[in-house]
Amino acid sequence: MRIIFTEDYDGMSREAAKIVAGQLYLKPASVLGLATGSTPVGLYDMLIKVHETIGLDFSSVTTFNLDEYVGMNPENPESYHYFMQEHLFSRVNLDPSRCFVPDGMAEDLSAEGRRYDERIRRAGGIDLQVLGIGQNAHIGFNEPDIQFEAMTHKVRLDDETIRANARFFEREEDVPRYAISLGIRNIMLARRVVLLANGPKKAEAVRKAVCGSVTPEAPASILQLHRDVTVIVDRDAAACL
Ligand code: GLP
Repeated sequence: MRIIFTEDYDGMSREAAKIVAGQLYLKPASVLGLATGSTPVGLYDMLIKVHETIGLDFSSVTTFNLDEYVGMNPENPESYHYFMQEHLFSRVNLDPSRCFVPDGMAEDLSAEGRRYDERIRRAGGIDLQVLGIGQNAHIGFNEPDIQFEAMTHKVRLDDETIRANARFFEREEDVPRYAISLGIRNIMLARRVVLLANGPKKAEAVRKAVCGSVTPEAPASILQLHRDVTVIVDRDAAACL
């Protein structure tokens, strides 16, 4: 595990953008695993800037998002489909037919999970997975549990996650209770992982991820077993390291 300490959110985003841009420079047809939430927005903004200024090319890139709320229509502004359109997909030269987000509207979510896993496999696996981290150390929507969930699956969100994500909704009651998420094994199969964290609310989760016991009670701790992980933290998120 490599840890990059940065002063602030912009520094974190810049370091992450360098890693993603370097990946695309070396392998233009990379498969990227992407995350939502407020953490990666600065990274996406910087990638857009690099695309606009020096022509970072996304035309051969394939993307797979980590997760989506169950029952959430892609046109709904609170959906992760919509978030990705707004923050990245529509702003660089990605091919829309190669940008994937799990279908939270699928009637059979287990079948949708299998279909998503198979699509990742056929794309050659994820070259670089971008992750944020929940305050309870979740990655994707893999909540603290008694076991590590392997592949893409339906999840019941923790109350803590519902409270944390309520800021994106009008009322806490509007936050969906279920999501579909890549599993821990999917994430561990990515060739490289970059985990981003900023702000004091993430300090304890970062401590658990980086130096706590490897346990499904802190899902991000599994990353200690991955052979190529870079954790990029700002000063506040690094407070407990
Ligand atoms: C959500 C997402 C995660 C994300 C986390 C942190 O629950 N499913 O992928 O990492 O929230 O969000 P934020 O970056 O807004 O703190």
